[in-house]
Amino acid sequence: MKVSDTIAALLAENRKFAPPQEFAAKAFFNDPSVYDRAAADPVAYWEEWARKLDWFEPWTKPLEWNPPFAKWFVGGKINACHNCVDRHVAAGAGAATAIVWEGEPGDVRSLTYEELQCEVARAANALKALGVGKGDRVCVYMPMVPELAITMLACARIGAAHSVVFGGFSAESLEERIQDAGAKVVVTADGGWRRGAIVPLKKAVDEALELGCPTVEKVLVLRRAGEPGTVTNGLATPEYDRGSWVEGRDVWWHDLVPGQSAQCPCEPMDSEDLLFILYTSGSTGKPKGIVHTTGGYLTGVSATFRYVFDIQPEDLYWCTADCGWITGHSYVVYGPLANRAHVLMYEGAPDTPDKDRFWRIIERHKATILYTAPTAIRAFMKWGTEYPERCDLSSLRLLGTVGEPINPEAWVWYHQHIGGGRCPIVDTWWQTETGQIMISPLPGLTETKPGSATRPLPGVSIGIYNDLGEDLYAEHIRRVQAGEATDSVGGYLVLTQPWPAMLRGIYGDPERFKRTYWSRFPGAYFTGDGAKVDEEGYVWLLGRVDDIMLVAGHNISTMEVESALVDHPAVAEAAVIGKAHELKGQAIAAFVILKAGYQGGPEIVDELKAHVAKKIGAIARPDDVIVCADLPKTRSGKIMRRLLRDVAEGRALGDTTTLADPNVVNALKDKYESAG
Ligand code: PRX
Repeated sequence: MKVSDTIAALLAENRKFAPPQEFAAKAFFNDPSVYDRAAADPVAYWEEWARKLDWFEPWTKPLEWNPPFAKWFVGGKINACHNCVDRHVAAGAGAATAIVWEGEPGDVRSLTYEELQCEVARAANALKALGVGKGDRVCVYMPMVPELAITMLACARIGAAHSVVFGGFSAESLEERIQDAGAKVVVTADGGWRRGAIVPLKKAVDEALELGCPTVEKVLVLRRAGEPGTVTNGLATPEYDRGSWVEGRDVWWHDLVPGQSAQCPCEPMDSEDLLFILYTSGSTGKPKGIVHTTGGYLTGVSATFRYVFDIQPEDLYWCTADCGWITGHSYVVYGPLANRAHVLMYEGAPDTPDKDRFWRIIERHKATILYTAPTAIRAFMKWGTEYPERCDLSSLRLLGTVGEPINPEAWVWYHQHIGGGRCPIVDTWWQTETGQIMISPLPGLTETKPGSATRPLPGVSIGIYNDLGEDLYAEHIRRVQAGEATDSVGGYLVLTQPWPAMLRGIYGDPERFKRTYWSRFPGAYFTGDGAKVDEEGYVWLLGRVDDIMLVAGHNISTMEVESALVDHPAVAEAAVIGKAHELKGQAIAAFVILKAGYQGGPEIVDELKAHVAKKIGAIARPDDVIVCADLPKTRSGKIMRRLLRDVAEGRALGDTTTLADPNVVNALKDKYESAG
């Protein structure tokens, strides 16, 4: 039987995967009563978790909820870095490994908790020397190297907020984020390794600052790539653009940090003080600076890390996300380190030097937990089983996925070929805004169904609302429990109770915060996702229902790409949609109308793709750019994206009766088919 037939058979069976007995026996949560206990008093449940952290001063009130504004652990004083580093050293675990890191050239570094403490304290003192103090914002634009985590923790240590910008974003995107946060210092590197080349990070910082970032006083630059020709583990750094050096502004990390004292006290922060800002795409095109504060965030991520990944002292945990995304914040740095976990970090691409790189890393370091994205799993599937089969993956005991819905076929493949059929899979649903995992199996407890994130975690309350704002979830679950449910119900996914790691706002824009998340269904947080719940009460995420695309798991708004396109002198109008894509989940398709005097053709198509990549970053480069004479619009002038999706996905056109000119879309379909 072919693998695909096996998979089809499994799916047809609607098979469920119970936690292996041996796994369940040792698991942190293996008694389902935790759900009821947490539901009876969610605030007390979260308080229990908050008590496991070190507080300089206790809180006086666990929650102050003035919808949509929440304050958790009011009056408490805490420091996130102290909880992730110092308290473990103080407890005698200084010699335990905190971070094992592998660079793309294969170079390896390992830091114990004690070493991490020294490095973080030195970096914190260096930031102080550059004028950074409590309440300031620091922009971090670095490759996935230990210094990225060190910088985040150093900021937390002195009470400065970090704003990490993913190294794949363009200079213009970086500039927009630096400006919005009013960052005083930028921490970057000369470059980072990616697919055997160097990503010129410092060059992009130079460009961003030339565009105008008046608040930036200093740029701290780590030497990672070095001069071209520098040899790292036998690989010579290729040529790359190193940018320019601005005297008085730019400071080398190695000139400043190592000479600093390794003593630096952790600043006592208010539970509600800003810990970080992280930008995510918004449907207006302008990114939203999502605000996370200290005590609640740390409680939410340390608790969920503990039980979703069932972390044990001997585990080596690897989350493949870059720290430029929320997954890297919550489940590479804060959640794992708060739990004194051993964290594996990797700098580069999964197919360098070969498509077995991830499996080689697991074999080499004996990783026990792997947390990655469906888009990566689909790529591995396409590359074939020969790559994982070359490596010993027997150290693995738990697998996780995040970022987008996982198709059952990819789930089953992951389970069989990576997990050897023995590792539970946690499909974790959450968002930059939620800060922490919200819907996920508990690996020692939950019977999983491939493709379903199963059910909300203890202490988390969800709703599935219809267009009228009526909740279908609670009643459906009642029917499931009473054995009366025979069908599934679907609608908009909302969160109905505050949770500790929830976003506290959009940086500098409380109105947008209210409008974006809290106006669609008053009193509830609207996630922007569709979901259904089946006859057994399992939750299935159905993707975004707004103008945000999920391209390889990354949020990109259609509006953001449209603005980048109309910024090009040749473009009069643009409409962008996410179309289904076998590997990336969604790919970007753009329909553009050119201004008079410009000709369609392959040159302009390539130029427009490159223009979008330059404006936003390579992750936003459209797969298709279709030059057209007209766009399908309603009589009131609204572009009908639904029809554009039909065209791009090669489907029969849906209802076209509301179009001002139905011929437009037929012409477009012909054009698309001839181009494709
Ligand atoms: O649509 C959901 C999808 O990713 C969105 C959040 O994206 P971001 O803020 O970048 O955070 C990603 C990492 C937490 C969600 O609104 N999403 C995330 N996880 C899942 C998912 N969709 C389905 N299943 C998931 N497990």
